[in-house]
Amino acid sequence: MNTNMYENPIVQDNIARLRKFGIDVIEPDTGLLACKDIGAGKMPSEELLLEYILKEIRFKKDFAGKKVMVTAGPTEEAIDPVRIITNHSTGKMGYAIAKVAVQRGAAVTLVSGPVNLKPPAFTSIINVKSAQDMFNEVSSRAKDNDIIIMAAAVADYTPVNVSDEKIKKSDGNLSIPLKRTTDILKYLGENKKTGQFLCGFSMETKNLLDNSRKKLVNKNADMIVANNLKIKGAGFGTDTNIVTIITKDNCKELEQMDKEEVAKCILDEILYKNL
Ligand code: CTP
Repeated sequence: MNTNMYENPIVQDNIARLRKFGIDVIEPDTGLLACKDIGAGKMPSEELLLEYILKEIRFKKDFAGKKVMVTAGPTEEAIDPVRIITNHSTGKMGYAIAKVAVQRGAAVTLVSGPVNLKPPAFTSIINVKSAQDMFNEVSSRAKDNDIIIMAAAVADYTPVNVSDEKIKKSDGNLSIPLKRTTDILKYLGENKKTGQFLCGFSMETKNLLDNSRKKLVNKNADMIVANNLKIKGAGFGTDTNIVTIITKDNCKELEQMDKEEVAKCILDEILYKNL
């Protein structure tokens, strides 16, 4: 509709009443309108409308009332103003989990390292860079969440000193001393509130099950989603994943599937087997 009509107090009052009765109102876009005026009143993008439709009809709302925090992507550890230490995580797995959890009715906070993905609609997104930033954002929100899923590839080490100036090259080799970062999942495991569910990820290149089971115990997690980086169709950057879901009494290898399908299986396992 035209901006003047949309902004008219009577229309706004009616929209507020609809919201009061629990109707979801999709805000119009702003821009050049059909009547050539510029302002609010445009039809929102088809992409956004589709997100609203999927949120309504794609899944049963079995996560309604649950607060879920998901971490995703890599972290970046600064060496100097020019260089960073990072990893190959693209964030796809964590973003898929956040998207499916929202569509199943959860209130989702997504704490994301630097990625090239659009945040899933209806999530509350917190952008971070370093492992320390991620620790700060996750630990300060942990108590508010029923389920925490740590899909981020968090750096285990960070430079001891960050140079204020660009490090100039000289002849010979260069070593950069590194120190350990805080293990966020372990911290969460040590400070778990009653009834809270903690899921970690484990990327391995060998001894997948043994190493992942150790992480489950050492970090006091309730579930570890493990994948072998050396298998085609699993791990960084791909649209599919091949994971093994490990809990205290169970170990279930899933076939290769789309990351959103994997997300659905992880969430099913959490809700129907564990909560
Ligand atoms: N993780 C974390 N904080 C860190 C490092 C990792 O919370 N500083 C979390 C990851 O988000 C993931 C899990 O721990 O959920 C396992 O990460 P991974 O790198 O596979 O294991 P590590 O415990 O770091 O052990 P290693 O690197 O020796 O395999």
